[in-house]
Amino acid sequence: MCGIVCVLGNESVAMPLVDALRRLEYRGYDSAGIATLEGGAIVRRRAEGKLVNLEAKLGQAPLKGTSGIGHTRWATHGRPTEDNAHPHATERVAVVHNGIIENFRELRDELSADGADFQSETDSEVIAHFVTRELERGLSPIEAVQACLTRIRGAFSLGFLFAGEDDLIIGARLGPPLAVGYGNGAMFLGSDAIALGPLTNTFAYLEDGDSVVITRSTATIYDSEFNQVERPIQKAEISAAIVEKGNYRHFMAKEIHEQPEVISHTLASLVDMTSETVRLPSLPFDWKNLSRLTISACGTASFAGQVAKYWFERYARLPVEVDIASEFRYREAPLEKGGLSLFVSQSGETADTMAALRYCQENGQHTLAVVNVPTSTMSREADAMVRTLAGPEIGVASTKAFTCQLAVLACLAIGAGKARGTLTPEAEKELVRALIEAPRLMAEALRLDHEIEACARDLSKAKDVLYLGRGTSFPLALEGALKLKEISYIHAEGYAAGELKHGPIALIDESMPVVVIAPFDAIFEKTVSNMQEVAARGGRIILITDEEGAKAAALPGAKTIVMPAMPSVVSPLVYSVPIQLLAYHTAVLIGADVDQPRNLAKSVTVE
Ligand code: G6P
Repeated sequence: MCGIVCVLGNESVAMPLVDALRRLEYRGYDSAGIATLEGGAIVRRRAEGKLVNLEAKLGQAPLKGTSGIGHTRWATHGRPTEDNAHPHATERVAVVHNGIIENFRELRDELSADGADFQSETDSEVIAHFVTRELERGLSPIEAVQACLTRIRGAFSLGFLFAGEDDLIIGARLGPPLAVGYGNGAMFLGSDAIALGPLTNTFAYLEDGDSVVITRSTATIYDSEFNQVERPIQKAEISAAIVEKGNYRHFMAKEIHEQPEVISHTLASLVDMTSETVRLPSLPFDWKNLSRLTISACGTASFAGQVAKYWFERYARLPVEVDIASEFRYREAPLEKGGLSLFVSQSGETADTMAALRYCQENGQHTLAVVNVPTSTMSREADAMVRTLAGPEIGVASTKAFTCQLAVLACLAIGAGKARGTLTPEAEKELVRALIEAPRLMAEALRLDHEIEACARDLSKAKDVLYLGRGTSFPLALEGALKLKEISYIHAEGYAAGELKHGPIALIDESMPVVVIAPFDAIFEKTVSNMQEVAARGGRIILITDEEGAKAAALPGAKTIVMPAMPSVVSPLVYSVPIQLLAYHTAVLIGADVDQPRNLAKSVTVE
């Protein structure tokens, strides 16, 4: 949730640290801080709020040190104040921490009794005091860190800077990720490779329980038993440019508009355009032998899972259970040995989804992950992984990663149907032909930007908004409502259109916009009946449909966004575009911080 970065360089590290933190701000932006050494002593600058505040402080009081650590915070323990901002430090050591220390109360009491003077309300500060105590007892920096690692419980990635040690930084991870970046006479640690993109393209990823000692010329990695180990060193193609906004005002707008291209890449990796068939990577299980599929994910990714349920059941006749990972992990769900569990995640690091994956592995399931970050923990730990090729997604509200997840899941469902003999070769061709039209259809949907912006004016004045849909448009309604809540702070609910009369209809009045997602398909008429129920009660309708649907609905007073006609398998991908744009324009009209909505973080590595 927080982002950490450490640099052992040859010039002042303040600016490289700040630049890396900017790339990590998607992980949290409640406060930011850096620590470096000057004349061997630890000096810090920290500021509440976004990174610009820290930059302003550094402008007034620059730091010159050539080794340093930095942090951008998503608050868990303690308010988002400067005192609670990382790095936490004593005279001997400074530490940055991403994660949660579960036994911090016990450690805080113990260390306070030993004379430690706590300055913050955070769990993380115990780490600085623990290591300090061990250093004062005569341990070396690595011994002191190892002593600390054996005592702390919870989830962490850590970076330590030691007073008087200009060529030494120590890192460790259990849970949240940590990458080691190899430079030329310089060495780095970062929460992800993107953070270090302009500094190096050579990385090693620490495994769970690993710690690492870096100097400017060496990186020595230890496993959880503190045995020295080697981890593969890889090249990653991360350019500095990929995290720029280009001509767009916000990353979210850029990422929405990138969808035709990234969907095209993603589909190209999974279908054969000439034979119009799916071409899945070899998977370590046989679709034919499965009697059930379990899907777990969080947030937007869980809605992709919900859409996939319709596809797997329809095309592969495979019963599917979809669960929010935070519920699944503690439910002790009975799982038949040899079953398949599928996990969907942009980051591949979400703590609850990771825990669900581990639970499934312990219970004899095959595990398959649909992940956007190929170097993530989930990618490494799942038995098999299929990538979404969305590229880095910076806007906190997920857009292109979601539609790429849908593209991959559709291909998997078609592949499963083919393998299970529930789809004829003709049916497969028809579906694939439809899917490869998705980029073109999305580009057409993007051209409706101005009309959608006009509808957003309506939403921007509302206090509550209802989203309705049936079939695969139901999870889209949930996603539409989530997008609006996340970035515009307007209360929104997604509902299955058929459930309207079982409760939410009581909310309908002239002040409540109702967004109806209804492509002209087999269930269109049912949704229209539900819409009539809204209209009869004075509700203000924004209907997203196609030409046929607009004609058939014939609702005076409704605002209609007319989409291109399309086969139903692609509608969840293409109809995502107007719901994303609706939320985006609403948030812009309100003046909300679209890319960094309050209280949220993109990668949630705590429970
Ligand atoms: C956070 C993000 C959401 C995302 C969810 C799951 O809540 O703000 O955009 O859908 O985490 O993240 P994942 O990386 O597992 O897809």
